[in-house]
Amino acid sequence: MRIIIVNNKEEMGKKAASLVSSQIILKPDSVLGLATGGTPLDMYKELIRLYNEKEIDFKLVKTFNLDEYFGIGKENDQSYYYYMVNNLFKFIDIPEKNINIPDGSAKDIVEECVRYEKSIKQAGGIDIQVLGIGTNGHIGFNEPDVNFEAQTHLVKLEESTIQANSIYFKTIEEVPTTAVSMGIKTIMNSRKIVLLANGISKAEAIYGLVNGKINPNLPASILQLHPDVTLILDKDAASKL
Ligand code: PGA
Repeated sequence: MRIIIVNNKEEMGKKAASLVSSQIILKPDSVLGLATGGTPLDMYKELIRLYNEKEIDFKLVKTFNLDEYFGIGKENDQSYYYYMVNNLFKFIDIPEKNINIPDGSAKDIVEECVRYEKSIKQAGGIDIQVLGIGTNGHIGFNEPDVNFEAQTHLVKLEESTIQANSIYFKTIEEVPTTAVSMGIKTIMNSRKIVLLANGISKAEAIYGLVNGKINPNLPASILQLHPDVTLILDKDAASKL
């Protein structure tokens, strides 16, 4: 596991964008695994800048997002689809058909999970997966007491996750309590993983990820078994290491 410690969130975003853009330069038809939330926003800004500077393009790139709220359609401004369009996709040249996000409004959600998993395989697997981490150690929406063998599935969100995500909603009651998420197995199948974390609230989870025993109560601890993981941390997130 490589650990890169940076001074602040902006630097974290720039470093992460460098790794993602190098991947695209080396393999223009790369398959990217993408994350939402506050953490990767600076990375997306920098990727858009690199695209505008003509350093990279996304014509052949395919993307698979980690997760999506259940029961929310694409057009809902709280959906992760909406987030991705407004923080990245509308600013770059990725063809719409190359964008993959679980459909949280699918009638048959089990079938949707199977379809999503199959699409990842058909695309040749994920070359580089970007992850954030929850204060409870979740990756994607894989909450503590995780099944390390799970593929894309419907998950129930923990109270702490609902609390953390409520900053994006008017009231906490509006936060969905379930979501569709890539499973740990899906994430572990990615060829490379880049996990970003900033802020003191993530320090405990980062300590457990790096130094703890691998255990289902800290889902991110499984990353110790992945052969190509890079953590990019600000000083606060790294402060317990
Ligand atoms: P955040 O979420 O980027 O909004 O902190 C990270 C996560 O829950 O994985």
